[in-house]
Amino acid sequence: MEMEIVPDYWVKDISLEADGRKLLEWAELSMPVVMKIRKRFEEEKPLKGYTLVGCLHITKETGVLARTLKAGGAKVVLTASNPLSTTDEVAAALAVEGINVYAIKGESNEDYYRCIGYALSHEADITIDDGADLVSTLHKMARGEKGGEMDIVESVLGERPDLIEKVIGGSEETTTGVIRLRAMARDGALKYPLVAVNDAKSKNLFDNPVGTGQSALDGVIRATDVLIAGKNFVVVGYGHVGSGIAERARGLGALVIVVDVKPHNALKAAMYGFRVATMREAAEYGDIFITATGNINVIRKEHFELMKNEAILANAGHFDVEISKPDLEELSENIREIRPLVTEYKLKNGKRLFLLGEGRLVNLACAKGHPSEVMDMSFALQALCAEYMVKNADKLPVTVIDVPQDIDEKVARLKLETMDLKTEKLTEQQEEYLKSWKIGT
Ligand code: ADE
Repeated sequence: MEMEIVPDYWVKDISLEADGRKLLEWAELSMPVVMKIRKRFEEEKPLKGYTLVGCLHITKETGVLARTLKAGGAKVVLTASNPLSTTDEVAAALAVEGINVYAIKGESNEDYYRCIGYALSHEADITIDDGADLVSTLHKMARGEKGGEMDIVESVLGERPDLIEKVIGGSEETTTGVIRLRAMARDGALKYPLVAVNDAKSKNLFDNPVGTGQSALDGVIRATDVLIAGKNFVVVGYGHVGSGIAERARGLGALVIVVDVKPHNALKAAMYGFRVATMREAAEYGDIFITATGNINVIRKEHFELMKNEAILANAGHFDVEISKPDLEELSENIREIRPLVTEYKLKNGKRLFLLGEGRLVNLACAKGHPSEVMDMSFALQALCAEYMVKNADKLPVTVIDVPQDIDEKVARLKLETMDLKTEKLTEQQEEYLKSWKIGT
């Protein structure tokens, strides 16, 4: 097989770099925790000599993280974790700064995997994933798996089962990725330690509900310009992400209906004042649907058939599998782009349905992802976890591990500090009381 020469970067247009630099400057203003870590990294260079490969949404916030890892002495390589989530200006700016970036907004699935091949050619010591595609590709390569995306990766790299041996550890940014990693650990397939950044409190109490709550609504509004108030708004999946979307939709005046398979989630939604329904019931009522389940085909043929004319469909989960595009295509007599990132499916039953951002995560495909203030915490965790992996490389168990509690708490404390907020302190008596089991009624 003839192999490709790997370029230093692959971006839409390198002349976009000046605009990209301004976007990075803007994000840095709202990411004081990461900037504080950067300052220390500049002095201590804790990542010197290590190659960090990130498969992340290439946004201005990811750019701030990349600059910080580089300031820590790392060689930084980036590839997109979604074909539609790249900010091309930022990719150009980072490329000019010597970061190997492989990402263009709107790239094909084939190019997506070619870029993963380019990124892995740099021989990672640490992987930083958002969705576990680097981990999965490295593991499949180690097992010699062929076909589909692996053939594309191999066309760039050749057969490289050895690449995984250099990796000391990785981190995972998102719920879907952690689910994949836990499945690998259960199967005994995992070959290096993975830190579940997603599961840290400083991540999933803020980024998942607050970040996605705002950015998913932002995506729907930017793509459609519709009024949210007065709409029947269906949220499918009431986990950390879905609950945030439901709250924000209610805040904008929507009547929110929640669909979930887990009894505690459904009960929580009911007691927080949302109407709980099955997907079948919700299908008939919804004006706008957002999925946030991490599962496949949660809205499918039997539901599309029941939907109102001109219902809007969007997904906030990691992969574009939650709303069945094959079913939509099968039911349709005509498909067209009615406005940018809005696909109109004219069904054979005469109704029209609108799918946003090709069913990919609406907050990044149709808007700019989570605000920088929230990514500040998630990416502070990523930077500190990279340092933790380097310092503890030979001690980490080969499984999915939690972010150490001291790192998690440090990020929350630093964030509070930068917001000029202080926590209350326990008195000595209160400390004693909490330690004692003897004082009762
Ligand atoms: N995930 C969600 N929002 C993001 C952002 N702004 N940057 C990187 N990853 C994200």
